[in-house]
Amino acid sequence: MCGIVGAVANRDITPVLIDGLKRLEYRGYDSAGLAVIGSAHELDLRRSVGRVANLEKISNNVNGHLGVAHTRWATHGKPAENNAHPHTSSHQVAVVHNGIIENHHELRTQQKALGFPFRSETDTEVIVHQIDWHMQQGHDLLNAVKATVCELHGAYGLGVVSKHEPGVLIAARSGSPLLIGFGDNENFIASDMSALIPVSQKYTVLEDGDIAKITVNSVNIFDAQGKEVERKVNISTLSDDETELEGYAHFMKKEIHEQTRAITETLEGRLGSDSVLELPFGDSAREIFDRTKELKIIACGTSYYSASVARYWFEEFGIKCDVEIASEYRYRKHVVNDGTLFMTISQSGETLDTMAALEMAKTLGYSNTLCVCNVPESSLVRASDLTIFTHAGREIGVASTKAFTTQLVTLLMIAICLRRRMLGDGREVDTLEKDVVKELRSLPQQIENVLDLEEDIISMSKHFGNKENALFLGRGAHFPIAMEGALKLKEISYIHAEAYAAGELKHGPLALIDEDMPVVAVAPNDELLEKLKSNLEEVRARGGKLFVFADVESGLESDAETMVLNVAPVNNYIAPILYVVPLQLLAYHVALIKGTDIDKPRNLAKSVTVE
Ligand code: M6R
Repeated sequence: MCGIVGAVANRDITPVLIDGLKRLEYRGYDSAGLAVIGSAHELDLRRSVGRVANLEKISNNVNGHLGVAHTRWATHGKPAENNAHPHTSSHQVAVVHNGIIENHHELRTQQKALGFPFRSETDTEVIVHQIDWHMQQGHDLLNAVKATVCELHGAYGLGVVSKHEPGVLIAARSGSPLLIGFGDNENFIASDMSALIPVSQKYTVLEDGDIAKITVNSVNIFDAQGKEVERKVNISTLSDDETELEGYAHFMKKEIHEQTRAITETLEGRLGSDSVLELPFGDSAREIFDRTKELKIIACGTSYYSASVARYWFEEFGIKCDVEIASEYRYRKHVVNDGTLFMTISQSGETLDTMAALEMAKTLGYSNTLCVCNVPESSLVRASDLTIFTHAGREIGVASTKAFTTQLVTLLMIAICLRRRMLGDGREVDTLEKDVVKELRSLPQQIENVLDLEEDIISMSKHFGNKENALFLGRGAHFPIAMEGALKLKEISYIHAEAYAAGELKHGPLALIDEDMPVVAVAPNDELLEKLKSNLEEVRARGGKLFVFADVESGLESDAETMVLNVAPVNNYIAPILYVVPLQLLAYHVALIKGTDIDKPRNLAKSVTVE
């Protein structure tokens, strides 16, 4: 969501801040700003609405050795220059903040009474005034921040500088990720290590309650009790290679096409000749799987849809599985049966709702916590008993594509491992497992074949350019695939799209059908095909236009009212992973026609670290 970068060095740090913000831009981006302490110990503040490029234009004469910077995704207050971070107080202190301060109204009232003027509608401004006030009471910057965070309710990742301490950068976190990157006689902070790729490989993740005092050659970290602590130093494996477009017009298109390679990586080392191996999932995987009698899966957005597909696999294999949206799970009571494994699924590993659900689950008696995640150095990974990585590689487009298909591949492998336990110990690998393994191996090639349909999908997309609504239909495990297709279309083309289990049509949505409502259907050749065909006839009979992705063997053919694109026959378990790919391409090409900002759709951010 919002991004933080900060630096203290013996060189001019403005280019480091701007470069770091550009690297974080995919996370949140309605405005950006920086505050730099110059050689005359003056605080230079620059802020602008829109892209970091706008900020760069107005910052070319800013120089200094200490500063903080921020890209904002609006929560409190509209995207506007006065709401952009950093926020300052008396032009002495500057603060960048990720998270939400829940008691900001109360603090604002107190501070107004003390005479602090308010220039923004943000919750953040109360933080900087509070720090300023504590400094006015005689505290140095570190102690003023310590005193302030004790008065905050809510979540924060903070970067703080003051012109009175021109060599000191303060970082603090509670509930919002923040890390310190170490350089050579220079140090940095960031909300995400990718911001620091060119300047730092060594880093430390701050823990909740930590406050750090950072200078060019020292880093002192204090925990929530004020005790000085050592935190683990990690070496980052991130590199610039993954952040290049490599000739593609958009990251989304690149990431759709990368799915063959990404899935190969997901499978790497995890398949035996005809079975799924468990050891590569980690030392504790076997023990955790042994304890698992049922599953509770929590996720958001696209990750929720991958969980929803996986539910069909788990239950078909005899494993009870309940799937729920994280933001709902957090706010209700739960009954937890013995042996229930709590699983989270997340591309970023930073989604606040999912993280909060995990924290709550840990108090409820689940047997273990397992996270299926793409980002190794993330909060969910750190908080879970076991993580099984999807190895999708960096995903930059806000609309998830390769993260989704690699999640599905990972979940199918987990389902196979749990199925063995349901069938009993000591069994030979059976035909079903052998078939699934064979199909998983062939999946990258099968995806390649679907990607070859792109020209036909481009022709199909032309029928959507002037539409305002679209309906997506699927049955069984392809119902969540239809939901994912609808989510992709609405996210990046801004066309209102809804998905229905096809059998539900007659219970209401059929009333929407006319020639202006394109209906997209996912029609693999499975046991529900005949039922789905009847549902499609219901659409045709009402003058609806159908766009169908079907198995060559499903017997569906194009005519004046129906456009059918054929996908090669595929095993039922693998089919959902394959059928989502044309839906991703369809959304992409419709968005291209609409001329939207495909990688950074309006109002959305890649990693949702606020509630
Ligand atoms: O990083 P996560 O997988 O936890 O993110 C969950 C959702 O925010 C995410 O999938 C979102 O729905 C995407 N924009 C979908 O394309």
